[in-house]
Amino acid sequence: MSQIDTPEIDRDNLEERGIGADQTFDKVLEASVGRRHFLRGGAAAGAALSATGIFLTGNEAKAAAADLTFTSIGESKADKVVVPTGYEAHTLIRWGDALSPGMAAFDPNNQTPADQAKRFGFNCDMVAMFPERFGAPAKIGRLPYPSYIMCVNHEYTTGTNMFPTYTASENQVLVEIEAHGVSVVNVRVLNNNWSYDVTSPYNRRITGTTPMQITGPAAGHDKLKTPADPTGTLVLGTFNNCAGGFTPWGTYLAAEENFDQYFANRSKITDAKVALDHTDYTITSGASSRKWENYVARFDCSKAEGVNEPYRFGWMVEIDPYDPTSTPKKRTAMGRFKHEAATIALTRGTNKVTAYSGCDTTFEYVYKFVATGTYTPGNRTANMNLLETGTLYAARFNADGTGVWLPLDLSDAVSGPKLAASTYPDGSRRFQTQADVLINSRRAGDAVGATPMDRPEDLEAPVDTDFYGTGKMYIVLTNNSSRQASTSTANYTSSARAGAGRAVPAKADAANPRGPNRTGHIIEITEANNDHAAISFTWRIFLLAGDPAAAATAVDNVSLNGISSFTGDRFGSPDNITFDNSGNIWIATDGTPSNYPFNDGLYAAPLNTPTGQSVPVKRFLAVPAGAECCGPLLSPDNSSLFVAVQHPGEDVSGLFTNTQSKWPDSEYPRPSVVWVRRTDGGRIGS
Ligand code: FEO
Ligand code: CA
Repeated sequence: MSQIDTPEIDRDNLEERGIGADQTFDKVLEASVGRRHFLRGGAAAGAALSATGIFLTGNEAKAAAADLTFTSIGESKADKVVVPTGYEAHTLIRWGDALSPGMAAFDPNNQTPADQAKRFGFNCDMVAMFPERFGAPAKIGRLPYPSYIMCVNHEYTTGTNMFPTYTASENQVLVEIEAHGVSVVNVRVLNNNWSYDVTSPYNRRITGTTPMQITGPAAGHDKLKTPADPTGTLVLGTFNNCAGGFTPWGTYLAAEENFDQYFANRSKITDAKVALDHTDYTITSGASSRKWENYVARFDCSKAEGVNEPYRFGWMVEIDPYDPTSTPKKRTAMGRFKHEAATIALTRGTNKVTAYSGCDTTFEYVYKFVATGTYTPGNRTANMNLLETGTLYAARFNADGTGVWLPLDLSDAVSGPKLAASTYPDGSRRFQTQADVLINSRRAGDAVGATPMDRPEDLEAPVDTDFYGTGKMYIVLTNNSSRQASTSTANYTSSARAGAGRAVPAKADAANPRGPNRTGHIIEITEANNDHAAISFTWRIFLLAGDPAAAATAVDNVSLNGISSFTGDRFGSPDNITFDNSGNIWIATDGTPSNYPFNDGLYAAPLNTPTGQSVPVKRFLAVPAGAECCGPLLSPDNSSLFVAVQHPGEDVSGLFTNTQSKWPDSEYPRPSVVWVRRTDGGRIGS
C-alpha cells in the first residue's frame, strides 16, 4: 500500500459539509489566520533570522513591541484553566468525545474497546496541527473555512480515573489499550472560534492495536521477531506517546516514551542477554501494575509471545495524517530509548534533516538523528522516507561550554571500536551489527561517553515556516532529585542502571549543575556554523527553574554565575516548550506541585536575553488541579493557543468520586485539549 499518495477522501461527505465552490481555501485562510502553515515550532513563522539571532521582521517586529505585556496570573490551586485578564479558555475536545458521526454520548459506565477505538483517547499530550490543504489535491482543498488536521498523543491511562470501579478486568484493560495512541481530528476555526468536525473522513484513532510497519536498520532483526510476526516488521500499536514532532513533508511523529510499564515478568526470561537488555529499559521483574499480561500474552515476557515484544517499542512512529488508511511506521534508524520528542530542523543551504530527541529518564542522554538523504522542497513523495536512513548521535557536554555529537555508528573510526568493545557479562559483543546499536541506544550512549543528563524532556529548535533552523536548540531538563552535589563520590545505581553495569557518578557537573536538581533547567545549544547537522556545538544554561526569591542556600535557588538566572514567577519541572513569532519561549510544566503549592501551567519569557542577564519569566496559564500542562502550540498569527490538559485529578483515585478535579464539565475529570484566545482577538502574550 502506498503511504505517499494522497488518499481518496469521501467526496460526498465533504460536499455535505458545505464546501464552497467559489471561495478558495487560500483566500479564506489568508483572511482568517494568515497564510502560513500552522505547525508547532513555527516559532519564527514567516520571519527571517536577523544577524543577531532575533527572529523578527516586518509585522512580526512591530508586534513584538507589545509582546508579553499580559498580566501574570497568580499561583492557582483551582480546578479550572486560569488565564490572564482579557483572555478566555475553551475546551476543544475531551477524553471520550466521538470521532465518528452517529455515536451515543460518552458514558463512562458502559465502555467497550470497540467504542473507545472511535473516541478521543485518554491523557492527551503532544498537539500538532496540519493545514488540511497541505499535501492534498485541489479537490479537497476547498473548504468554507480554514481546516486543520490535529494530531494528539495519548500518553497513558489511569484506570482508577477512567471507570467508576476499577479492577483491571479484561474489558477494562482492553479499553485502556484502545485509549492509548494518537487521535487524528479535523478541527476548524471560524470567527476565531475553534471546534472539531465529528463527521470528517480525516478523523482517525491510532491505538495500542493498530498495525504498524517497522522500518529501517532494525526491521527484521531477530530480536524484533515474535510468533505473531516472524518477519520482525509488523507490530501492533504504540504506547506512551508523550511528545513528538512533525515534518516539513506533513507527517506526524509520535514518540514512544515509558513503554516498559506495559510489560511483565522479566525475571522469568531464560536468555540472560535478553533479560539484561530489558533491564536496561526497566521492564519490571514480576507482575506489572497494569496487569495487561493477564489477558494479552504479548505483554508477558515469560511467554514466547512476549519475550521479544518490548524490543518493538521505544521507537519513533511516523504517521501520515492526510491518509486515514496509511500504516504508521516505526523508524528504527532514530534509535530506541524513552523518546520524549522529535523536533525537525532543516539546515539552509544543504537541506540536511535533523531530528532532536531526549531519553526522558534521570541520568540518560540527549540524542539527535541526521538523515542520510536531503530534503527536497515541494516534493512530498521524495521526502516521505527520509527518516528511514541516517546517523544517530548522543551528546557530550564538556565543562568549557563546548559539546560534541558522538555518532552511534559501528562504522565510525572513533565510535566504532568503542561500540565494538561493549560486551555482555559473558564477554560476547553486545553490538554485532548497527541494528544492535539502535535497539539498545542507551548502552551505545554509554559506550561512546555521552553525558548523563537530568531527565531530557522536550528538545525544540526554533525554525521558520519552511523548517529551516537557526542553529539554536533548547533542551528542557525536568528535574533529577538523585543528582548529588559536585563533591559527591557516589554512583547513581537506581532504575535501569541498577545491577545492570550502568552505574554512573551521581555528582553535579557543568551541564547539570545542581545536586539535587528538584526544579529542572533549560540548556541552549548553538550548533557549529549554525548547522543542525554539525558534529559539535557550544552550550549555555538558559535558566535554572525554581524560585527567584529563594535563599541562596535553598535547593531551588536559581542563581547562576552570580546572578539570578531568571526573575518573575516561580515554577518547577519544565517539560514541553514552544516558541512564538516574536522570539519568546513558552514553557509548560509537569511537576510544579511537587515543589510548590500550586498547579502546573504555562510560562513565557524572551529567548534573546543576553548571557549574564536574568530572563524575565511570566506565568500565563494554570491547568486544573492534578493536571500537567502539555503540548503548547500557537496558531500562525499567534491569535490562538492550544494546550493539552493531561490527567486532571490524578492525585486522587476515583472517577465520579474524584475530590481533586471534576474538570472540565463539573462531572468527572476528563483529559482535554484547550484553546485560548484574547477576548478581543489580539495576539497571545500581548
Ligand atoms: Fe511523558 Fe517525559 O513526559
Ligand atoms: Ca513530557
